[in-house]
Amino acid sequence: MNKKIFSGVQPTGNLHLGNYLGAIQNFVKLGKDQNNECIYCVVDLHAITVKQDPKLLTENIRETVATFVASGIDPKKNIIFNQSKVAAHAEAAWIFSCVARMGWLNRMTQFKEKAGKDKEKASVGLYSYPILMAADILLYDATHVPVGDDQKQHLELSRDIAQKFNNDFNKENFFKVPEPLIQKEFSRIMSLRDGTKKMSKSEISDLSRINLTDNKDMIISKIKKAKTDPLPLPPNLDELENRPEAKNLLGIYSSLKNINLDQAVNEFSGKNFSDFKEKLIEVLVDKLEPISKEINKLMSDKNYLNEILNNGYEKADNIASKKVTKLKEIIGFY
Ligand code: TYM
Repeated sequence: MNKKIFSGVQPTGNLHLGNYLGAIQNFVKLGKDQNNECIYCVVDLHAITVKQDPKLLTENIRETVATFVASGIDPKKNIIFNQSKVAAHAEAAWIFSCVARMGWLNRMTQFKEKAGKDKEKASVGLYSYPILMAADILLYDATHVPVGDDQKQHLELSRDIAQKFNNDFNKENFFKVPEPLIQKEFSRIMSLRDGTKKMSKSEISDLSRINLTDNKDMIISKIKKAKTDPLPLPPNLDELENRPEAKNLLGIYSSLKNINLDQAVNEFSGKNFSDFKEKLIEVLVDKLEPISKEINKLMSDKNYLNEILNNGYEKADNIASKKVTKLKEIIGFY
């Protein structure tokens, strides 16, 4: 069966190793398979659920496109576009906000984490954010959605919305129920400063993450400063439990080398962190230096990046506007 792939990344700056290993690396792989139809979206409407500086937002939209292309996504074979250009996303999101139930949204853990203690001051958009995500996915009849582990719950909500709509309007299969594509191992990369916290764009300390725009010296310095524990690396997986930093760093190594975690554990069994970190730096620099150089190069060619977004917009709009027209007919709008 041909797969229809849809996924999105927020243009909020500081795209990092977690975004790369949890999502973008997978986008590249899926995009290379001739049997897949892939759509990768820069989700700028999602970005404004928290305050953004307009000039920086424009820049970050381009930087996200540059990151996609520098990582190996071919804009000729895959659709790359930004969400705000395609009006159907906002239209469908409103309709879906009348399908989704308050109880469903109240369960979303990411809202609770992001809104923090001061829920009253969070934007309404931050709360209803997963509904917009459902619109993104369902408008394109996506069958598979590659994401990191933190988006699993949001995808379940998309599935619930698709099923409820199809049932309520007696339209079996009008919306495809999408499958998540989440890596089995290391679908959640953790902070370099605290192995129990997710690596994140919004973490204040830049030392907590490797940004995809970091140069070689920055990568070296961040890995050298990455938190460890006092023991040598363990001989087996069991002894890796309760050692979150060791597990995260070995996980990053194994993901980059495309090997299993137990192979990485065997390779470094009994070694000190300093020896292991040397090797980790080597593979990180090998993988990321060409990407960061290419991002910089592409960022100086605004016209090329704009052209990718304009071409992507035409193709995406063509699909999404037809779907939203049918959706409105089903509801009874004319
Ligand atoms: P965003 O922009 O926060 O993250 C983009 C992708 O990176 C993954 N990711 C991680 N994976 C592993 N470890 C980490 N530490 C880590 N941090 C981030 C995320 O899981 C994601 O796959 N709501 C989405 C964007 C979105 C979307 C969509 C995704 C909007 N519409 C439709 C799929 C389909 C988000 O905020 O991702």
